[in-house]
Amino acid sequence: MDTDFFKDLPIDSLLHKEELRQKGGITLIASENYAYPQVLELLGSVFSNKYAEGYPGKRYYAGCEWVDQVELVAQARCRQLFKGDHANVQPHSGSSANMAVFMGLLSVGDTIMGMSLSSGGHLTHGHGVSFSGKLYNAVSYSVDPLTHLIDYEALERLVEKHRPHLIIAGASSYSRLIDFKKFSEIARSYNAYLLADCAHTAGLISVGLHPPVFPYADCMTGTTHKTLRGPRGGFIVTQKKYAQQIDRAVFPLIQGGPFMNVIAAKAVSFEYALQDDFVEYQQQALANAQAMVSVFKGCGYTIVSDGTDTHLFVIDLRNKGITGRYAEHMLEKVGIFVSRSTVPFDTEKPCVTSGIRIGTLAITARGCKESQAEEIGSLIDEVLKGTFTPEHYAVKVKGIVKLFKDF
Ligand SMILES: Cc1ncc(COP(=O)(O)O)c(C=O)c1O
Repeated sequence: MDTDFFKDLPIDSLLHKEELRQKGGITLIASENYAYPQVLELLGSVFSNKYAEGYPGKRYYAGCEWVDQVELVAQARCRQLFKGDHANVQPHSGSSANMAVFMGLLSVGDTIMGMSLSSGGHLTHGHGVSFSGKLYNAVSYSVDPLTHLIDYEALERLVEKHRPHLIIAGASSYSRLIDFKKFSEIARSYNAYLLADCAHTAGLISVGLHPPVFPYADCMTGTTHKTLRGPRGGFIVTQKKYAQQIDRAVFPLIQGGPFMNVIAAKAVSFEYALQDDFVEYQQQALANAQAMVSVFKGCGYTIVSDGTDTHLFVIDLRNKGITGRYAEHMLEKVGIFVSRSTVPFDTEKPCVTSGIRIGTLAITARGCKESQAEEIGSLIDEVLKGTFTPEHYAVKVKGIVKLFKDF
């Protein structure tokens, strides 16, 4: 086949359609963002061709001179960003990063304690369908039933009872600040490791809009594709004493060759996050989320924990008589993309749920400010009421998107 003229028509056409969907819709999926153009370029670069099992200076392949330097730059920026001693930038995803920490620090069968899925935790925090619940004895903590906040005293009582070897602080849909210092005091008192899973909050932490992880946690995991606007991928930052254990857990225990194109792209997103204006982006994402929360409250919606300190929040739809799945579907029909979400102590199945999670990273990357965020909030309310046809609302969505910056 002549690769110069080869065009895979079905895939090419699907790529074009996906580009139109992303450009023409309003993305409010809290875990999604628009990666920087340099990130997308590096993902499709010749770094993708290189095998580099091992670590800089200790590879199992020849020809690693330049990728070694790429990885060292990525590590240095990552350490600087999160003020940790050691960084591993090879995890293919946030889930692999968590797995590497468990495998590096624990023995199979040890007890781990993470936030329950319905309170906002992630599957890898001990859910039965994940390796974390299958390989480890998982115990979960929930948020307070009334405030929906982490109750640190209740957490300590649970830790005293179950004596976990590792506690996970961090979540997928908990919208409030997490006090890593308090978590570490509890962990230290009961001789447990503390893992801060900052898949969502990494960018906020890096600019000081969320409490710091170090020196409190033993290990921090994160993803580069959410608040950091980088490639899909994970990373781990650790205290020095765990460096070797964690590196060996990433490779060769759970992964093979690192994705050097992704690591180069991670390095670029870390550099962006080190710039002065990155704080403005994070502040705007937060301001947009808070502006939307005000609109939803004004329209009679219940917000889990009554607000947000981050780029995301969860709406409990039970008083509106609709499920998360229904709301997600109604909004998708008009070009607004959100994800269904469990609410604390949800009785609906995870594929149905009683809520939706909304995040402002992607619209903020497209230049959205508070007034537009409010307009989007009001439009979501109208769509969920369903007075007019989806076509009517789709026109309104187009009107809002027309004012967005390209990405
Ligand atoms: C808190 C948390 N940890 C881990 C992950 C897993 O990341 P990934 O989807 O890259 O495996 C996520 C994903 O959203 C997350 O929210």
